[in-house]
Amino acid sequence: MTTVLVAGATGSLGGQIVKHLLDRGADVRALVRKSSVDKLTAHPNLTAHVGDLTDGADALARHLDGVEVVVSAVQGGPEVIIDGQRELLRAAERAGVHRMIPSDFSINLYGYGYGVNVLSDLRRVFADSFATSTVARTSVAIGAFPEYFLGPVHEVLDPAAGTFSVWGDGTRPIDMTTIADTAAFTAAIALDPSTAGRDVHVVGQQLSMMELRDEVEAASGRQWELVRKGTLQDLRAEVVRRQFNASSLVEYVALQAQVAMFDGTGSLRDVRNADYPDVVPTSLAAYLAGRGAAHFTPPETPRRPGEWPTAV
Ligand SMILES: NC(=O)c1ccc[n+]([C@@H]2O[C@H](COP(=O)([O-])OP(=O)(O)OC[C@H]3O[C@@H](n4cnc5c(N)ncnc54)[C@H](OP(=O)(O)O)[C@@H]3O)[C@@H](O)[C@H]2O)c1
Repeated sequence: MTTVLVAGATGSLGGQIVKHLLDRGADVRALVRKSSVDKLTAHPNLTAHVGDLTDGADALARHLDGVEVVVSAVQGGPEVIIDGQRELLRAAERAGVHRMIPSDFSINLYGYGYGVNVLSDLRRVFADSFATSTVARTSVAIGAFPEYFLGPVHEVLDPAAGTFSVWGDGTRPIDMTTIADTAAFTAAIALDPSTAGRDVHVVGQQLSMMELRDEVEAASGRQWELVRKGTLQDLRAEVVRRQFNASSLVEYVALQAQVAMFDGTGSLRDVRNADYPDVVPTSLAAYLAGRGAAHFTPPETPRRPGEWPTAV
């Protein structure tokens, strides 16, 4: 039985990674902050380890004795993604952990350089820490979560106005994977030793913005007015304009992601779904017919400017 420690085990993604690891027979340790222990669901092969990435490597190493793989699904700023994950990596080195999956779960953030996306920059800085590490890195790339991409932060769907907005011509295929499918793939990848030292790209569905609009219209049973926001050059200019004026990165980071999605630099390469045939991803149509239907109605409480988005 493989022993896996999951950091961020109480998050939207991490909670589902824990479930899929348990389904696959792994012995799972959930690293959870004291205030979040109640969010875990009991299972015979799940142990709660109370800890925080800010505890430092010495304290974190105590949770890692006998662990073969660390999966991180934490979210936060540089203090979590760079400093906190570095402490976890140092702890993993001391404990003789073989592999670590960092909290990337993104478009192909290694397809473009620094300065394009502030959240990618944090992950790339942390990735450099593996250069001198005895722990092998396995990065998982999945494209965009539709739970966020079709939510208010990306400004694609506006259910109150009935609009579907597109930058560029909307014809390049983009990569979309639901949170549940990302978790299913990640559990399979975590238990696959051949992924050591590799970037593994997997995807739920690849479709263009125009095809996504068709899926939205079919699932919602109504027409969505197409709003052409401008060229990709206009999108880059809009990101720069917002960076100067924003009080929070939430006001521009989703558009930064769209730049790399729509110009293709963040597109997935060498998609490895065939390596994990028991993971059958949900189609966009099925997602939109299920919980994704929530995207078609305006939220009851409008999001405050700068508020961190949540998944549907
Ligand atoms: N591709 C996409 O479209 C997309 C969209 C959204 C997110 N993501 C990525 O998916 C990953 C997970 O995001 P998410 O939305 O699942 O995040 P989330 O729901 O906010 O969960 C974050 C988790 O990190 C934990 N955490 C935060 N700081 C910590 C610390 N100092 N010590 C220990 N644990 C800490 C939280 O614990 P508590 O429960 O105690 O707060 C929680 O379990 C991230 O890498 C994120 O960038 C990708």
